[in-house]
Amino acid sequence: MQIKKHPILGEKFTEEITFYFNEKPLKAMKGQTVAAALMRNGIRKFGVSRKLFKARGLYCANGRCTSCYVTINGLDHVLSCSTLVEDGMNVHSNESDPDVGGIYN
Ligand code: FES
Repeated sequence: MQIKKHPILGEKFTEEITFYFNEKPLKAMKGQTVAAALMRNGIRKFGVSRKLFKARGLYCANGRCTSCYVTINGLDHVLSCSTLVEDGMNVHSNESDPDVGGIYN
């Protein structure tokens, strides 16, 4: 569910864009955060925790907990809940981060 026309903020999320998560093309609406775009595509696991390798994803949704960090366009530790998705953006789960001993390490 998504609010497309807000009585105060006006019309949002009218332009569809494509971004990539772990090399897979996904659709998103311009103006969404990366986390919202991932959730819209049914992706709940954004990576794993550093020590115990437990699933991590959206938790606080306001940039405070760092549970949602991903790698965006090669930059590690980007908070997906606080970053707007862009057309052609390359997002990787934090398992490609060398600080995390996930499946790619
Ligand atoms: S969900 Fe907590 S910082 Fe993004």
